[in-house]
Amino acid sequence: MSNYEILSQVIKERRSIFPASYIKKEIPVEVIKQILETANYAPTHKLTQPWRFTVIRKGGLARLGEALGNLYKQHVSPQQFLQKKFDSFGEKTSQADCIIAINMQLSGKIPEWEELAAVSCAVQNMALTAESLKVGAYWSSPPLIDNLGGFLNLGESERCIGLFYMGYHNEKPWQPNRTPIEEKVKWIEE
Ligand SMILES: Cc1cc2nc3c(=O)[nH]c(=O)nc-3n(C[C@H](O)[C@H](O)[C@H](O)COP(=O)(O)O)c2cc1C
Repeated sequence: MSNYEILSQVIKERRSIFPASYIKKEIPVEVIKQILETANYAPTHKLTQPWRFTVIRKGGLARLGEALGNLYKQHVSPQQFLQKKFDSFGEKTSQADCIIAINMQLSGKIPEWEELAAVSCAVQNMALTAESLKVGAYWSSPPLIDNLGGFLNLGESERCIGLFYMGYHNEKPWQPNRTPIEEKVKWIEE
């Protein structure tokens, strides 16, 4: 297969795979490192390389679930509190084999959106590498991540912008729900 064929197959087969689909099978540290390594090749304006990651595994997963549950409790009124939602944090984190907190280091050298865009490119590299290694993954962005700085021990100019859940799975590839690209492209030729 040509590079184009391999790349477009991986791109098209990548799907968000959610914790309920994960099986109990450890992702070797070497595989996690292979996924992280490709993040480092994302494009980056002024070479700020703003992507930062916190790898959470083993006992760290339960602690993350607990931290999210506690944040949820703190941030909703007693009237809005739902026990089911509270329990879901611990449930989802325990279904994952590894969760990588996606963090962004703000350099002040370029607009914040450019740092965010570079981190997003890095995450897409990770998602495609995970797909190529048959590891399921998805980017989770609950509003509570804005308050995870304490748990993650983030610095002043660091922000958490998501949790990258990972786990092996047995899902068969399926067609994603997308409207045609032609509807999203304008051409200017004269
Ligand atoms: C920045 C970002 C944040 C996301 N946050 C969530 C989330 O909080 N919860 C969720 O279920 N999916 C989240 N997703 C995954 C989308 O639901 C998923 O990409 C979409 O359903 C399309 O499916 P696909 O990734 O399989 O193509 C997020 C995706 C991105 C890019």
